[in-house]
Amino acid sequence: MLVAVLALQIRQTRWFQMKFNRAKEARHLQPEAAQPEAASANAATNAATNAATNAAQGFYIGKDNEKVFVNYGTADAVMQSFMRSVMAGNYDASAKGREIFKKICATCHQPDGSGKDGIAPPLAGSEWVLAPSGERLVRIVLNGLNGPITVRGRVWNQPMLAWRNNFDDEQIAVVLTFIRTQLGDNKAGSISPETVAAARKETHPNPETEAELLRIPVH
Ligand code: HEC
Repeated sequence: MLVAVLALQIRQTRWFQMKFNRAKEARHLQPEAAQPEAASANAATNAATNAATNAAQGFYIGKDNEKVFVNYGTADAVMQSFMRSVMAGNYDASAKGREIFKKICATCHQPDGSGKDGIAPPLAGSEWVLAPSGERLVRIVLNGLNGPITVRGRVWNQPMLAWRNNFDDEQIAVVLTFIRTQLGDNKAGSISPETVAAARKETHPNPETEAELLRIPVH
């Protein structure tokens, strides 16, 4: 059942599908009530493995004698917490968007999105984030950004790398939806994975520049 739920929730994204298949292969039932020693021995082994590799190998889901150990085969923290929330049945796009923001974007743009001198401009209150259409925004994040850019009346000039190879369309859509709807006082419409997918299809070997972005209509 859990497998069906997971497959349903994430079937659109090939990347997750791939990770999921790996998890599925490694999954085995742990009827804890019937085999308490085996289960705890396995947990201990698992804990030891975790300590040795310094990265969690999996987690238990389910209750009582229906516990299943899921090995998600990834050390990626965002992926792990996403898998955990999906497997626990509480898939939540906004929680996932927040998670990606917190783990990745906040490193530079700061947890409250206020930006930091010499590191990254603000996302809270940014006209690039809040523009009525997300056409510029998705391209900034997919393709990266280079050269001077004015954000809230201040010029910033430090490159941001492209994120296209780190995230799939759905992940970019949820993180952008998060920064448009929940970061600071930001209130703008959500971004769909389809918008991201369409922009991804364009060939864009170099990072975006402000001049180039300004040619894209956002109304
Ligand atoms: C390593 C630091 C770093 C990380 C991580 C980072 N950015 Fe950026 N970002 C920058 C910098 C630097 C600029 C300014 C680029 C320039 O000056 O041309 C920028 C610019 C932007 C802009 C346009 C300007 C603005 O402030 O509105 C957006 C939107 C943006 N980033 C979104 C994101 C999102 C979403 C993430 C997470 C997926 C992210 N960034 C992760 C450094 C970072």
